[in-house]
Amino acid sequence: MLCQHSQLSEGTTLELEYRGSTIIVLLHQQQLHAYWNLCPHLSVPLNWAPNRFLDPSKSYLQCATHGALFQLDDGLCVSGPCSDDRLQRVETERVGDDYYISAGQQQPESPRNFRREALEEMEGD
Ligand code: FES
Repeated sequence: MLCQHSQLSEGTTLELEYRGSTIIVLLHQQQLHAYWNLCPHLSVPLNWAPNRFLDPSKSYLQCATHGALFQLDDGLCVSGPCSDDRLQRVETERVGDDYYISAGQQQPESPRNFRREALEEMEGD
């Protein structure tokens, strides 16, 4: 199970772990939306602090790295270096109060770790 409807409220997010990845879950106009926590710009997590995804107006998801803004209901980037790209949606199914991740969808690769990449590059020199 991903989460329960009663855990969600408008203007907040949930950051959930799933098989080594994280998922952003939110409620917008009483509809659940879930996205893999990967910015389409550089394939890094959107957040620097736990469960901090919304811009100050709580109208968009915001990437902490370069400030890209994503619509809540479809993950479309409307401002920033990845404009017109989208967050990858996590398809879900609701059974009563419970939401489940739909079977058969592709999980994205792990986020890039620039620190580790830089260290490996330094060791290779
Ligand atoms: S990494 Fe997200 S906007 Fe650049």
